[in-house]
Amino acid sequence: MLRPDRELRLQRFPLRHDEPLQAWDAADEYLLNHLDETAALTTGMSLLIVNDAFGALGVALQEQAPVSWGDSHLARLALEHNLERNGAVAGAVGFVPGDQAPSGSFDLVLIKIPKSLAWLEDLLRRLRPHLHAESQVVAGGMIKHTPVRAYRLLERLVGPTTTSLGWKKARLAFSKFDPALDILPAPDSSTYRLEEFDLELNNRPNIFAREGLDIGTRLLLAHLPQTDWPLRVADLGCGNGALGLAVLRRCPAASVLFVDESYQAVTCARENAEAAGLDGHEFLAADGLREREQGSLDLILCNPPFHQAQAVDDLVAWRMFEQSRRTLMPGGELLVVGNRHLGYHIKLQRLFGNVDVVGSDRKFVVLRARR
Ligand SMILES: C[S@@+](CC[C@H](N)C(=O)[O-])C[C@H]1O[C@@H](n2cnc3c(N)ncnc32)[C@H](O)[C@@H]1O
Repeated sequence: MLRPDRELRLQRFPLRHDEPLQAWDAADEYLLNHLDETAALTTGMSLLIVNDAFGALGVALQEQAPVSWGDSHLARLALEHNLERNGAVAGAVGFVPGDQAPSGSFDLVLIKIPKSLAWLEDLLRRLRPHLHAESQVVAGGMIKHTPVRAYRLLERLVGPTTTSLGWKKARLAFSKFDPALDILPAPDSSTYRLEEFDLELNNRPNIFAREGLDIGTRLLLAHLPQTDWPLRVADLGCGNGALGLAVLRRCPAASVLFVDESYQAVTCARENAEAAGLDGHEFLAADGLREREQGSLDLILCNPPFHQAQAVDDLVAWRMFEQSRRTLMPGGELLVVGNRHLGYHIKLQRLFGNVDVVGSDRKFVVLRARR
């Protein structure tokens, strides 16, 4: 990415050979150009960057010692990787996970508008205590991914908001903090029950299928094993923990690793486990099973994502399958649900050479790959 004084070398994360996608978008450039042209950011100002997908803003503004706040562990890894690639000193940009709040007060806040408006609303509500009367909030997004309601949220939860003209299909919004704004109470968190497993699932704002159980997940739930054997299980990409918690009802002696790259998801799964009285399991924000020991699991449950940072992409699912093959013990099983048209069967067959269809409906298929 070209900056007035240098060229930044930025990569998406996870790294892949011949990556076809850029690690920044026009909204990142528009935000940075705005700072260059208006001198809105001066030395010594405290800067918070929110939801920086691959660290483009953090790397470009590292001299300002910003704090980066986001819910993606992959984004954190991308930021660290890109800082190092661009010669930053260690710790140049602090990172605050999305299940925590930053500390202190900020003069300028740059927000990349997330896809989920529930998540934007939650971020803005938690941001307010960290703003002061002179704080400026500048939010940027690609026009096609930013509904008008996002600007209304800024107006309702930060203060008077204006928007820019479009540039390269991106738009900025400028909000002046109004400490006296009358803030309505936060909407109730969404909760639903899985009667057949006697589970109540509460959902934080940045959770997949927070309004109701995903139909693919429901199909996978119908094919869980039942045993008293002390299985070592991973709920890979756990979201609210539906799959891992349900398997504990069927396999009470199992131990489950709940892992997700979203900090909110991991916290949500942990809270749901506590509420269900299911203690003693492991909850981890990580890039899947990347750092897990080889051959250490008996069963992996997975409803993989098919997009990353708003781009439809099977890289994440493919990596999850590779990680699963490595971490399963011989004879161990990966149970996957996916949309029929995604062709997971072919990928799994190539990796495991031993795949059955254990369930299907019009849209989804549940596959079992045995190591
Ligand atoms: C389709 S959702 C499934 C969530 C949950 N298992 C369910 O069935 O409701 C996929 C999940 O994978 C997570 N995810 C994406 N990339 C990941 C990665 N590299 N490592 C771990 N989790 C990841 C997402 O945050 C999301 O929660």
